[in-house]
Amino acid sequence: SNSAAMSGDLLAWYDVHARGMPWRVGPAECTAGNRPDPYKVWLSEVMLQQTTVAAVRDYFLRFTSRWPTVSDLAAAADAEVMAEWAGLGYYARARNLLKCARLVAVGFGGAFPDNYDDLLKLPGIGPYTAAAIASIAFNRPETVLDGNVERVMARLHDIHEPLPGVKPVLKAHAAELTPSLRPGDYAQAVMDLGATICTPRNPACGICPWREHCAAQNAGTAAELPKKTPK
Ligand code: ADE
Repeated sequence: SNSAAMSGDLLAWYDVHARGMPWRVGPAECTAGNRPDPYKVWLSEVMLQQTTVAAVRDYFLRFTSRWPTVSDLAAAADAEVMAEWAGLGYYARARNLLKCARLVAVGFGGAFPDNYDDLLKLPGIGPYTAAAIASIAFNRPETVLDGNVERVMARLHDIHEPLPGVKPVLKAHAAELTPSLRPGDYAQAVMDLGATICTPRNPACGICPWREHCAAQNAGTAAELPKKTPK
């Protein structure tokens, strides 16, 4: 189908252009059967809520060298974790982080739940984070929808109805493209596409792996999308 060809094209692009991030496991390692550590995927995704990849990197490396497993983090004193978090902001995230670590360490023997529904029950894990962990760490074909993915979908289908109302439509388009093979790489590939090619301003449509499928690129409207309801 067209969706399968499109996700295949994007994965081929990602194999060459994936941004290096310390919590990622490269395609070759993944193929060899190494999965990303759910603890590292969870920690990075919580840190990435409202914070950029560039800002998160050093925090992530300090956290994981000090607390290599979720059980190590669960055993840390609140004040030590809050001190390491200082500068990332949104301190409710850090408090939920510890709550979640202790629940997983004590309640689940250190093993994160491996599916969307059970992940969603944990403190600090909403629909975006549950889908990200389920797909990246556990290879489940869940639909990951963040601001990057919303922008890519709005442009691909030249959708002019504004956010946030149009979100369910964008999610349905994102779902129809999500492949059952390599869904975790695919989720990160769409986010990387949005962050590096399909950018909010001056999108690099000429080098986009999806340029031939993109309705907004055809209509010349890419840079205006997505529309937002005025506040
Ligand atoms: N933004 C949030 N999580 C991400 C990830 N895993 N890859 C790229 N961008 C992201």
